[in-house]
Amino acid sequence: MIPSDRKPRLLILLSGSISCYKACFVISHLVQSGIEVRTVATPSALQFIGKATLEGLTGHPVASDMWESGRAMEHINLARWADLALVCPATANTINRLSAGMADDLVGSLFLAWEIQKKPWWIAPAMNVAMLNHPLTQASLQKLSNVGVRVLPTDSGPLACGEEGAGRLLEPGKIITEVLVQLGTKIA
Ligand SMILES: Cc1cc2nc3c(=O)[nH]c(=O)nc-3n(C[C@H](O)[C@H](O)[C@H](O)COP(=O)(O)O)c2cc1C
Repeated sequence: MIPSDRKPRLLILLSGSISCYKACFVISHLVQSGIEVRTVATPSALQFIGKATLEGLTGHPVASDMWESGRAMEHINLARWADLALVCPATANTINRLSAGMADDLVGSLFLAWEIQKKPWWIAPAMNVAMLNHPLTQASLQKLSNVGVRVLPTDSGPLACGEEGAGRLLEPGKIITEVLVQLGTKIA
């Protein structure tokens, strides 16, 4: 239950997909809907969008490097701070790493520090259809689902690689609606 005297708090973790620009739209809309958003971006995600964009949209610095001076406990602090975590977009690499319990970067450490029985952790996959259908990726998604992670569906259609099929990031409007419903915020 989110206390009524503060805004709902959402942690968005971005991994390195071409669809990072769509996550910016999601963040922008959620901030305008009254949600406090903080972001974590993998180094690959920062190849697609800049820290300035995320900081400008949220009003908070983006966390990326687990070893950044002054933010050494961010993997615990952010895990305690947020009401909901959403990996958006979630790459094949990040999904497979999370399912293996890897904790050698900020996203993995945060996931293990997250009390999954108490607070929701969601992922929104985005990748090429073959990467999505690969047995290892499918096994990882199943494993994450088994421990309580909510795996949002992907959309089908043209993919950035030129192929067609499943694997497109779920349409941003649908992600926004799901988050607003979860956080009990009126849909703008
Ligand atoms: C132009 C480009 C687009 C990419 N898009 C995706 C994508 O949509 N999904 C994905 O799983 N990987 C994608 N990749 C590969 C990932 O960026 C790569 O696996 C990276 O190591 C992921 O790291 P991260 O999970 O730590 O962010 C893309 C790579 C490039 C160069």
